[in-house]
Amino acid sequence: MPKAKTSTLQQHFVRQDILSLDQFDIDSLFKLFSITRQMSFFAQHSQPLDLLKGTISTLLFYEPSSRTFASFGAAIKRLGGQTIDIQNPGQTSSVAKGETLEDTIRVFEAYSDLIVMRHPLTGAAKAAAKAAFFVPIINAGDGIGEHPTQALLDLYTIYEKFGRLDHLTCLLSGDLLNGRTIHSLLRGLSLFPGNTIYLLAPDSLKLKREDLENFKKRGLKLFEIPSEKDIPKTADIWYWTRIQKERFSDLTEYEKVKNALTITPELLRKYAKKDMIIMHPLPRVGEIAVTVDRDPRAVYLKSQVRNGMYIRMALVSLVLGKIG
Ligand code: NCD
Repeated sequence: MPKAKTSTLQQHFVRQDILSLDQFDIDSLFKLFSITRQMSFFAQHSQPLDLLKGTISTLLFYEPSSRTFASFGAAIKRLGGQTIDIQNPGQTSSVAKGETLEDTIRVFEAYSDLIVMRHPLTGAAKAAAKAAFFVPIINAGDGIGEHPTQALLDLYTIYEKFGRLDHLTCLLSGDLLNGRTIHSLLRGLSLFPGNTIYLLAPDSLKLKREDLENFKKRGLKLFEIPSEKDIPKTADIWYWTRIQKERFSDLTEYEKVKNALTITPELLRKYAKKDMIIMHPLPRVGEIAVTVDRDPRAVYLKSQVRNGMYIRMALVSLVLGKIG
């Protein structure tokens, strides 16, 4: 049976490609959250579930990944599913012989029920979805485009803490130009009213002007701040990101900005309120001092990571039509 055409979800996840946060509406998000909560309960109580028994998912990662790759793998295996694991196909598969993305997708859809793909080119997930006749594609990061499953777990983590996704004040910092997690998170936050976002980035890594205007039109109150001194003391969330070294064509430019913005206990003392959370999609490469890890407000190596597995358990089950 041919798969569904990529579209907005409206609570129908079955055989849908998941390419962008733009496919989500509030009800679909909450449907996913409610199943995620159930998944977290089962996983935390080590209750065996075999919802995905008999299914095979291909994890096709053209770019380095440890967490997202392992998180999808763990999510699928916890539910009794199996995976075909392809990392760096540029070196290890027929891609090295010059095979096109379209052919690779057509081959793996013959073997599996779902393809989770990460690719260095923006738009590659969409191209893969177009090439696949039968199996849905989940975008696990396409270049500087989007990383929808990361944003879903980020939104879930925020919701878990604050019980809402509206009327929040967020500080997003780091590489806002190239950080695909940022691009998906802003789409998610723009679904809800009253959110105020402060953006802090080196001049060369600011959000694209076009994106800034688009997100404003969607109702986000966006303010670019020039330096750490301008961080508002009202932020509920600090979401920090890595400067994306691999996106620089000139590494001297990277050297200039790589240590531009760092969270230290001192910075938190000055600007962070008590009841806030510190998030990071990981990996971090120095932009959060390790001494911050002990701060109870730091969730990046704690619930944020665990939630990644739970949200993927829920999403894959929904897309494969095994729940909901
Ligand atoms: C992010 C990514 O790949 O975009 N990592 C992840 O999946 N958690 C963030 C990053 O690489 O900086």
